[in-house]
Amino acid sequence: MTTPICDFVTEYCLSRKVRLHMPGHKGAALHGLEPFDITEIAGAGYLYDNEGIISESESNAALLFGSGRTLYSTEGSSLSIKTMLAIAATALKEEGKRPLILASRNAHKAFLDAACLLDLDVSFIMQSAPSPSLCQCFITPKDVKAAIESLETKPTAVFVTSPDYMGSILDIKGIKEVCREYSLPLLVDNAHGAYLKFLQKSLHPLDMGADMCCDSAHKTLPVYTGGGYLHINANADKRFFDDPKGLMSIFASTSPSYIIMQSLDFCNKVLSNEFPTLLENALPKADKAKQEIADMGYALIGKEPMKITIMPQSYGYTGNELADHLRENDIEPEYSDPYAVVLMVSPYNSDEDYERLLFALSLLPRKKAIEGMPIMLPKPIQRVSIRKAMLSKPRRINVDEAEGLICARTAVSCQPSIPIAVAGEEITGEIIKILKRYGIFEIGVL
Ligand SMILES: Cc1ncc(COP(=O)(O)O)c(C=O)c1O
Repeated sequence: MTTPICDFVTEYCLSRKVRLHMPGHKGAALHGLEPFDITEIAGAGYLYDNEGIISESESNAALLFGSGRTLYSTEGSSLSIKTMLAIAATALKEEGKRPLILASRNAHKAFLDAACLLDLDVSFIMQSAPSPSLCQCFITPKDVKAAIESLETKPTAVFVTSPDYMGSILDIKGIKEVCREYSLPLLVDNAHGAYLKFLQKSLHPLDMGADMCCDSAHKTLPVYTGGGYLHINANADKRFFDDPKGLMSIFASTSPSYIIMQSLDFCNKVLSNEFPTLLENALPKADKAKQEIADMGYALIGKEPMKITIMPQSYGYTGNELADHLRENDIEPEYSDPYAVVLMVSPYNSDEDYERLLFALSLLPRKKAIEGMPIMLPKPIQRVSIRKAMLSKPRRINVDEAEGLICARTAVSCQPSIPIAVAGEEITGEIIKILKRYGIFEIGVL
């Protein structure tokens, strides 16, 4: 597979041209990568154009993912989510009707930012049973159907997150069938699942029928932080192909990183060569580690193959305590909260990495179980639009004084940015309890 962006930049470096253009480092290797950090010089193309070496590289990615069109993002899935919603909202706009998105409640902050910027109405699909984490919203095709039926007006699109931060994977195929029944496009936040395409049997949302999805390439593929994709399914509404780049550019910097683009470009070569085999070899290692951790007595959740999510309260520790223990043993987890520790592995983890993880976990003595308190988010009461609330001037108050007031700024659990109270919603007593459980003691209100 060709690497047109990398080839161009390498040639430019070798040419030793006088750099009288941005950036200010002029290619001097102060930190190391500067020689490769260029800008839109002649021949380098522009990320938001539809031709040139960047488009060529994106076509390679489209081929690898089997999409109708793939766009690079140098600002992660956050940019792709905003773009995906802009595409659906503009293409499907109906005169005199506000766009309405039916979304699973564990939508990432980027989704809510998009709702503010695009002035979207949102109706949330809530999980019907308590969950051990805010990040999970384990909805079924039946839940989606019931949610569509419960609306007074037909939504513009359905938006779900799969896989979620904890490693749960939704039945995207089943959800797509429901969407098809109601002629609704299915948009998937697949930030955590780019690699799912390269399993022997793909679990990627595009292969399950999603009309569009975002992938954070940087989360699970060998790509620098910030690299992502927006994929449009070849079978999606033809209007989605009209001007996706133009819409992406509305939200993006006019100086996209060529370092990240080279990383995405080079990744195509890795994906077309060794990656599927590396992944195939890594799967049994991750599986074995999960089994051994479970055998030690730790509870695990999630079905995503390369994510190890430990729920250590039944073993006697909070998630944060276990994460601290791992850090004391020179292991840095992806995420922890009072309930969970999320560990992400990839084909680039060594056997020694697994050994060190298992050894560190084996050092902790089992203690009396901590009583778990599963979370059941109440059905939200939307008082004003997300946009109106988010663009207001908030008054910051102690959460204990917020009951009955309207949330002005979406309150998210720190990382991974999942909403507890969405801007425009009424803050109820139940919500206040959950905010405090996640360490949020102040909130902006209208
Ligand atoms: C579920 C989910 N969606 C979207 C994002 C945003 O992705 P990015 O950091 O690539 O912008 C994240 C980030 O952690 C995420 O967990």
